[in-house]
Amino acid sequence: RIAYVNGAYLPMDTAFIHIEDRANQFADAVYEVVTVYNGRFIDMDAHIDRLERSLNELHIQMPMARSAMMVVLAETARKNRATNAILYIQVSRGIVKRDHAFPVAARPCLTVTCRRFDFAAVKARAEKGIKTITTPDIRWGRCDIKSTSLLPNVLAKQAAKEQGAAEAIMLDEAGNITEGSSTNVWMVTKDGVLVTRSIDDNILPGITRAAVMTIARDFQIKIEERAFSLAEAQNAAEMFLTSSTNCAMPIIMVDTKKIGDGKPGSTTKRIVDAYWSMME
Ligand code: PDD
Repeated sequence: RIAYVNGAYLPMDTAFIHIEDRANQFADAVYEVVTVYNGRFIDMDAHIDRLERSLNELHIQMPMARSAMMVVLAETARKNRATNAILYIQVSRGIVKRDHAFPVAARPCLTVTCRRFDFAAVKARAEKGIKTITTPDIRWGRCDIKSTSLLPNVLAKQAAKEQGAAEAIMLDEAGNITEGSSTNVWMVTKDGVLVTRSIDDNILPGITRAAVMTIARDFQIKIEERAFSLAEAQNAAEMFLTSSTNCAMPIIMVDTKKIGDGKPGSTTKRIVDAYWSMME
């Protein structure tokens, strides 16, 4: 495997960031995860748009022009012979003597890694659907920024794993679902309305979320972007989640409660299939 680190393509076991990279000391960095499916980047432009937005919100410069970054990403994928793979892109504020406030002279650091990804396994998982747990959302007030500060997400996912579940769904103080530890969450009501939380500071505006919105509109499925509670979701007809690495993934259980009849729902299946067709 080959990684891109600040201008150089290096074998993975010699690819390091500096100890005073602010990503290391402050998680002063943002990231993107982009999939490569059958040799093509999925929604790359939207991911780079979101990267630019995250950087902008934190007053970090783009490490290079967007067109140059596209070349680096394509080159990293090529050097790794990526056919079905995940690209991880990270930009930190830079390498500088430790001090909380923004350094004046730091240059942003770009690192990119690539690894193979088994889409067939994701597709197989989507046939059965996944189990989830719930956990309080203990994150900060700017979850719209895709920051590498992910401890609450790490703890949530670990809790899911320990309980034999694939994802942890996070709940705000009002008992409403914010999102999964690394996914957006959806329900289909008994009236066939597709519901997902509206974009605000408490969730990441998912690229897959946006793609599923487009699919649902094409199918003329009614969409509501609003807050919904755990109780409402557990009594919904169907649930699923979305992310670049899960695509659209049916949820069949939340804590001890089966969703619908405990199998992927029919509207969910249509959306899952349409998303896979869109990637082809
Ligand atoms: N996670 N919400 C959170 C908190 C996320 O971390 C992610 C993505 C999403 C879904 O976004 P998208 O559809 O753009 O992938 C929602 C990536 C995959 C990760 O951290 O690995």
